[in-house]
Amino acid sequence: MLKLSEPALLRSQNLIDGQWRDAGLRARLAVTDPATAEAFANVADSDAGDARLAADAAAAAFPAWSRRPARERAQLLKRWHALILDHQEDLARIISTEQGKPLKEARGEVQYGASYVEWFAEEATRICGDIVAEAVPGRKLLVLKEPVGVVAAITPWNFPLAMIARKIAPALAAGCTVVAKPAEDTPLTALALAWLAQQAGVPAGVINIVTASREHTPGVVDAWLADSRVRKVTFTGSTPVGKHLARESAATLKKLSLELGGNAPFIVFDDADLDAAVDGLMASKFRNGGQTCVCPNRVYVHDAVHDAFVERLAQRVGALHVGPATEDAAQIGPMINARAVDKIARHVEDAVARGARVVTGGKRVRSADGPHYYAPTVLVDATPAMELSCEETFGPVAPIFRFRDEAEVIRDANDTPFGLAAYFYSSDIRRIWRVAQALETGMVGINEGAIAAEAAPFGGVKESGYGREGSRHGLDDYMHTKYLCQGLLG
Ligand code: SIN
Repeated sequence: MLKLSEPALLRSQNLIDGQWRDAGLRARLAVTDPATAEAFANVADSDAGDARLAADAAAAAFPAWSRRPARERAQLLKRWHALILDHQEDLARIISTEQGKPLKEARGEVQYGASYVEWFAEEATRICGDIVAEAVPGRKLLVLKEPVGVVAAITPWNFPLAMIARKIAPALAAGCTVVAKPAEDTPLTALALAWLAQQAGVPAGVINIVTASREHTPGVVDAWLADSRVRKVTFTGSTPVGKHLARESAATLKKLSLELGGNAPFIVFDDADLDAAVDGLMASKFRNGGQTCVCPNRVYVHDAVHDAFVERLAQRVGALHVGPATEDAAQIGPMINARAVDKIARHVEDAVARGARVVTGGKRVRSADGPHYYAPTVLVDATPAMELSCEETFGPVAPIFRFRDEAEVIRDANDTPFGLAAYFYSSDIRRIWRVAQALETGMVGINEGAIAAEAAPFGGVKESGYGREGSRHGLDDYMHTKYLCQGLLG
């Protein structure tokens, strides 16, 4: 049972035009605890009609919101930021209960998500255009930044707070209004966040949240894709869904930000600080039980340090505490659902059948606590022929590939359609620049496993998508550039 100090945070209806309302069809969607797969709450199961109402509200709110002085928008975002932090513990409990993220990490997610709200509150007041030197006398060339309009935000389950915060905050800072659909597995955090935005004074219609089941999601999203008033779609999730959104939004040529799948390489060279590399892998691989797009999926370790690295890593991984997310001691919680844990088990079985060896883990655990726990795992003798080399495992599995040569490992690391994040450890400054430039990804961790920050541009290349979240680039994605040419001036 989810007990909160502020029970009003637990919402069960859509937020449309400042009103909390049921779905038009009165349908409900059960929210389950990933540990037990049992329902503990329910929310509106919306359809295209609800999506259109949300878009109507966002379109109606846009003119006034976009004309509000940037400082006023910034003040509202700052109030929202403060309220998120004031409710950190309740929000963390909601995240843990609906997503299975260990409580300590969930508290961190609240701070991480809030940091984007604060960052974009500050960036709102720094939106600048240009005055360009005129080529012809008597003319002025001016460049303005304007909000794109209504933004549709479609967010994933793995960071139920941070991902929606880092889409809504820049949208509001730029002067856009939002319709959002959180993932069907984790709608409660998004609703709680929207309630806090209301308490902060964000006007009706500026943020609209519509929740829907897997079955009804296509209806909701397609309604927004077909709506010419929706000028931008921002999505975090799988590459196939990202491609669908790109195809379908082509009819109205919407602006797109797509943060899609990754298959991150993590490379440990023979000149690396091995303890730092183990720390970095623990931080990046086992965060959220391995369920992040930037988690290393392929760990390449140089032959000369392979055995020492594996020994130190296995000790750390074997000591991770697996348990219900809301228990303070938990370091790895349950996976999100049965499909997720089945995929992890399939990847490990396939790897073992093709010659990999389990050093630690390699099995489902804690079945008495629920069906979705998987032991943190280290595998050695991984090869490119294995499924886990081509596809994101999205779970607590670190497969180790042995390598001997820098050129070979760069080729293997880049041998994927994805290009979100990469990591490597080396103490040779010349190699550091060479490798950083050769890796085909949007982000590179160099002797660092925790790379995400509100001040940094988060995003990928290749089939990991385009657009950036966070940093000043994150605000640009919600604005277009207007050029004014004024004559008769001299
Ligand atoms: C993601 O998994 O897509 C986001 C992870 C992060 O923000 O670090």
